[in-house]
Amino acid sequence: MENKTQQAGTAQLTINGKTIDLPVLKGSIGPDVVDIRTLYKQAGVFTFDPGFTSTASCESQITYIDGDEGTLLYRGYSIDDLADNASFMEVAYLLLNGELPTQDEYAEFDTTIRNHTMLHDQVDHFFRGYRRDAHPMAVMVGTVGALSAFYHDSTDINDARAREISAYRMIAKMPTIAARAYKYSVGQPFVWPQNDLDYSSNFLRMCFAVPTEPYKVSKTLARAMDKIFILHADHEQNASTSTVRLSGSSGANPFACIAAGIASLWGPAHGGANEAALNMLEQIGSVDRIPEFIAKAKDKNDPFRLMGFGHRVYKNYDPRAKVMREACHEVLDELGVKNDPTLAVAMELEKIALSDEYFVEKKLYPNIDFYSGITLRAMGFPTEMFTVLFALARTVGWIAQWQEMIADPSQKIGRPRQVFTGAEKRGYVAFDKR
Ligand code: SDX
Repeated sequence: MENKTQQAGTAQLTINGKTIDLPVLKGSIGPDVVDIRTLYKQAGVFTFDPGFTSTASCESQITYIDGDEGTLLYRGYSIDDLADNASFMEVAYLLLNGELPTQDEYAEFDTTIRNHTMLHDQVDHFFRGYRRDAHPMAVMVGTVGALSAFYHDSTDINDARAREISAYRMIAKMPTIAARAYKYSVGQPFVWPQNDLDYSSNFLRMCFAVPTEPYKVSKTLARAMDKIFILHADHEQNASTSTVRLSGSSGANPFACIAAGIASLWGPAHGGANEAALNMLEQIGSVDRIPEFIAKAKDKNDPFRLMGFGHRVYKNYDPRAKVMREACHEVLDELGVKNDPTLAVAMELEKIALSDEYFVEKKLYPNIDFYSGITLRAMGFPTEMFTVLFALARTVGWIAQWQEMIADPSQKIGRPRQVFTGAEKRGYVAFDKR
């Protein structure tokens, strides 16, 4: 990766009677940044930004979000363009390599991924060790982390070929692991991947085929699955991607870094929101109970939040939510699901919230997690599997960001500081003096 920021000017900071100059850098689009790398050396102070609301942690050329416009670009291509026209494997190639693949490049990449979907036979023993009722995200964290115990030949992060092989292995094997986590939870036998199936069809078959009868993948559901994977593939420096980058900055192997990303994604404020949003819609149960929950969401003393609403960056509609809502209707129509009560609650809740001054003033719009749960449940996935599917798709983004971080010449180990408000130095006090 070549650093491409340009100096756009200089910021002056006067502190403790000293004025220092800090370079202002600009990228290709988006806000300029104040380069504070020499701040502590020049002025002996740190910046303070818990939650990183005003902090750019890195330079990246992968994904761009404009929260006010509601724009999401993968390597410059808008998310709705890609969702309407590309396959998930095309988008994976784009995120990893920076350009849409030619026919030949696509054929080679797709074939490589199809030929790496099998797991080492002994990995299956891991699943036998979990309780059947374990949350599938716990299974994902444990099993993906364990992959570094099986693929020693691709954990040398300083070897470009090893990085490429581990990238292909991660992307190819995540559907197999995710499907096994589901099969194990329902007590059904594992289904091996088929190399003659595309990525999403293969995944649906590994989840829903049973040995007792043939399984025909619905093209509409496979296309909807592909679209859902595209929507979840990457999202600049969100919590789980930042976790992967920070883990990778110490030189940890890619399997361990992706396992760390899965752990972070699991939280209900992040990737766990799709599971939490569906549980919330089912808890509301009917349209007439919506006002009760809207009041809870507004009550400062009530920790309840409308899951699937709000976003750190999008202060306008999440562009993925729009595409997700279309995919939701396509799936429900394909499956002949009429009058889904949860969908009725979701659509009425969205309508009410978008006209309620509390949500308008706080710029709280539905995010991608608001409609994904309804869609995935209709496709046959249990609620606990929703974040697993998010992790499956986001693995492509995590890998692309991890590769970019390693190739970044300005990259150093991530090591933030703090503002300390604890006890100052004091002497030990013997027991009989306390
Ligand atoms: C994802 O970062 C990413 O890009 C993530 C993601 C990705 O692709 O990687 O997009 C995926 O994680 C989407 C977000 C899924 N999470 C949820 O749907 C959970 C519900 N949403 C909230 O927890 C919240 O909106 C966050 C966590 C998403 C964003 O929180 P912020 O930016 O830290 O905002 P905040 O908590 O400071 O809230 C600002 C105000 C607060 O009120 P005040 O203190 O200013 O009075 O808005 C309120 C909040 O109380 N608020 C909500 C709310 N979200 C924020 N009130 C009710 N319901 C909500 N959902």
